[in-house]
Amino acid sequence: MDELSKERVVITAALPYAYDDLHLGHIASTHLPPDILYRYLKLKGAEVIQVCASDDFGTPILIAAEKQGKDPREYVATWNARFKEDLGRLGIVYDLFDSTSSKENVELVQSFFTKLNENGYIFVSEVDQFYCENDRKFLPDRYVKGTCPHCGTEEQYSDGCENCGRTLQHGEILSPHCSICGRPPVMRKSTHYFFRLSAFSKQLEEWLRSNQGLQSDAKNYVLNWIKDGLQDWDITRDISWGVPIPLREAEGKVLYGWFDNHLCYITTALKAAGKTGEEGKKYWNESKVYHFIGKDIVYHHYLFLPSMRIGEGEYKLPDLIPTRGHLLLLGKKLSRSKKWMITVREFLEHFPPDYLRFYLTRIVPYTQADANFDLKEFGEKINNELVANIGNFAYRALVFVKNKHGGVVPQAGKPGKEEEDVLEELSRAVAETGALIEEGHYDRALRRVLDFSAKCNQYFQHKAPWENLQEEPTTTNYACNLVAGLATLLNPFLPFSSAELWRQLGFEGAVEDRGWDSASGLRVESGRKIGEPKPVFRKLEEKDLSSVSVQLG
Ligand code: MF3
Ligand code: ZN
Repeated sequence: MDELSKERVVITAALPYAYDDLHLGHIASTHLPPDILYRYLKLKGAEVIQVCASDDFGTPILIAAEKQGKDPREYVATWNARFKEDLGRLGIVYDLFDSTSSKENVELVQSFFTKLNENGYIFVSEVDQFYCENDRKFLPDRYVKGTCPHCGTEEQYSDGCENCGRTLQHGEILSPHCSICGRPPVMRKSTHYFFRLSAFSKQLEEWLRSNQGLQSDAKNYVLNWIKDGLQDWDITRDISWGVPIPLREAEGKVLYGWFDNHLCYITTALKAAGKTGEEGKKYWNESKVYHFIGKDIVYHHYLFLPSMRIGEGEYKLPDLIPTRGHLLLLGKKLSRSKKWMITVREFLEHFPPDYLRFYLTRIVPYTQADANFDLKEFGEKINNELVANIGNFAYRALVFVKNKHGGVVPQAGKPGKEEEDVLEELSRAVAETGALIEEGHYDRALRRVLDFSAKCNQYFQHKAPWENLQEEPTTTNYACNLVAGLATLLNPFLPFSSAELWRQLGFEGAVEDRGWDSASGLRVESGRKIGEPKPVFRKLEEKDLSSVSVQLG
């Protein structure tokens, strides 16, 4: 009966660069939204895998590793482990969290290059590159520092100025010098391989126009880029840390990180599914594919990624690329260098993971509008919505079982109109929350759950079991069932709290063992011995919040 239970779904989240901690912005746009979908689809019985990886290659990572005197391989492995730890603590668990530098990915990337080359989408051109005669190597832009031609700030990387924020064209930097030895570099010709992006304008346009799953705001400006004309794309780097270009004459050259990283979506999904070769292609092509991203990488996902797949010809394009805006902190963009940033680690030192999941889900819409993270508002939402609404209802209901019935769920009498109504509310909440999740509106879906919880509170308040003693067992029995409904409805959003409610209801096993749709019925039998009732959410005080704002300076 249910379409979703027949579906096979692959979900990916944009890959974090292996040189810095995950911060709240990564979670808001890229890791939390797919996790909600993933958990929901599992409850619906779909066959679904969720994957991610560390984005290991590229000059900035090589430089960071060199600075610490580490082999880049060892360096990225440390970050990979840290990412898994942080995400795991947030309840975001991937079927596989791999690395772009994995052997399987390098193989897939090289086969893509070879195929694209055979199909005529790669060409060679001589380009001027900085070269250090002392170190005897080509210097990618990040290895050359100099003075910004716009604002005069010294010691800036030659691809952009951190002070005035402008990007710089190759060769534009003033008084360039090698970041390794400090001497001025010379310009030298190097053979570079280019990807013929311009050849795909027509096909990209057709795909964008015909794919109903893509958001229209993103679609429209990508169509404008196509209209303005697409530039062919230099995919070569003269460094050692990357996927080697698989041609004898290209020795010492590697592929640009944006050529290899998104292919890791495919590699990792197939690895997680245990499929290789033809079977792997079939698996991919018969799945519904989602790539979750932040809006800063639209260009790469709506143009590079699909054209590389079209040009190679064997792996289908994504069905959806859910794209969300930036997370601002009190209205300002996050910035590591300006110390305006909260990492996942820091945040979890102060608050439970579900509080973060709750607040971020509430404030991040399914659009490219930026969301604003505000600790004061965070505290208010936790206290007024989680604690006062959901937590309060669940605790009151279960305490009634404990105090009035020795912890055993009482038998309900004949249901009255109020019982029928609230049960009807429950099935409506289950259907509508599900529909909103399927449409990508996780913020509205969570609001829908809150509305339902408010109805549960009203029911309990209205039936006043503390004075309406005759109907008290019926009220208490129904209230327990509503708590069970909430445990399932909250599961995609707040997995830890959902599990805690389930435990307090006295169930063995996990919420996940029962499907989403089962939540609309009566599932708590009379006679069931419940667990010890405890408030699931704790009210936040001023001092809880100030400990974090102090760090922001
Ligand atoms: N590491 C990139 C970033 O943080 C994202 C890579 S996503 C992928 O901007 F598609 F390339 F894998
Ligand atoms: Zn040098």
